[in-house]
Amino acid sequence: MSDPISPYHKPGFYDEALAKGRHRDIVGGRWEETGLIQMQILLNAGLEPHHQFLDIGAGSLRLGCRLVPYLLPNHYWATDLSGALLRRGYEMELADKTRLSPDHLIEDANFAFPALPDTITHAMAFAVFTHLPLAHLAHGLARIRAAFRALDWVMFTVFVAPDDQFDQPFRQPDGVVTHPGRAPWHHRLGDVLRTAQAAGFHPETLPTELPRGQLLIRATPTISG
Ligand SMILES: C[S@@+](CC[C@H](N)C(=O)[O-])C[C@H]1O[C@@H](n2cnc3c(N)ncnc32)[C@H](O)[C@@H]1O
Repeated sequence: MSDPISPYHKPGFYDEALAKGRHRDIVGGRWEETGLIQMQILLNAGLEPHHQFLDIGAGSLRLGCRLVPYLLPNHYWATDLSGALLRRGYEMELADKTRLSPDHLIEDANFAFPALPDTITHAMAFAVFTHLPLAHLAHGLARIRAAFRALDWVMFTVFVAPDDQFDQPFRQPDGVVTHPGRAPWHHRLGDVLRTAQAAGFHPETLPTELPRGQLLIRATPTISG
């Protein structure tokens, strides 16, 4: 049997980890630091309480537990490969549950975005495409572009490796080793930017330093004619 594309795709992964109470570890730990960094990125980028925000691959709401209190009630939506993980985050991490209806948490294995409104204005996929091959980034971005016509931007993170070291394991600035053919995946920056352009976005790399050496990209929809 071939290897799963990421640890998240291993059969039984979520059941086992959730049974052990490890909803924070599943998303990589570093709970406070990573949640705060994501919040700071969004505030610096001008996210306002009336915006409609989609957290793609939101996990156990490491960002959501901070963002839900900032946004107007029910202006936050979350998708993830695991609905159980989203619900555990909601139960354990969301202080004021009156601000978010549980039907805003949506299990979604392949960027289908079922039951999401097309009024989403801003989105983030933090540490999600770092676990996926380039074809999944292409598919995910194309789906985002098609589903959300009111989108101002989507931010996402990837790992990149220099072109001349792409074919081998690569040590990222804060130590994590990424790979060209298995998770955590690295890509060539040029391929990531071309993929975003082909999906109908203008991509920009942002200078923010992120945990584990991820690269932050803001993709703004290009005007279609
Ligand atoms: C490293 S965690 C990051 C979670 C969250 N974005 C955060 O920063 O706290 C990666 C998340 O991506 C989710 N995931 C992996 N593959 C996915 C896919 N194809 N579609 C949606 N979510 C996915 C996992 O379940 C996990 O919650």
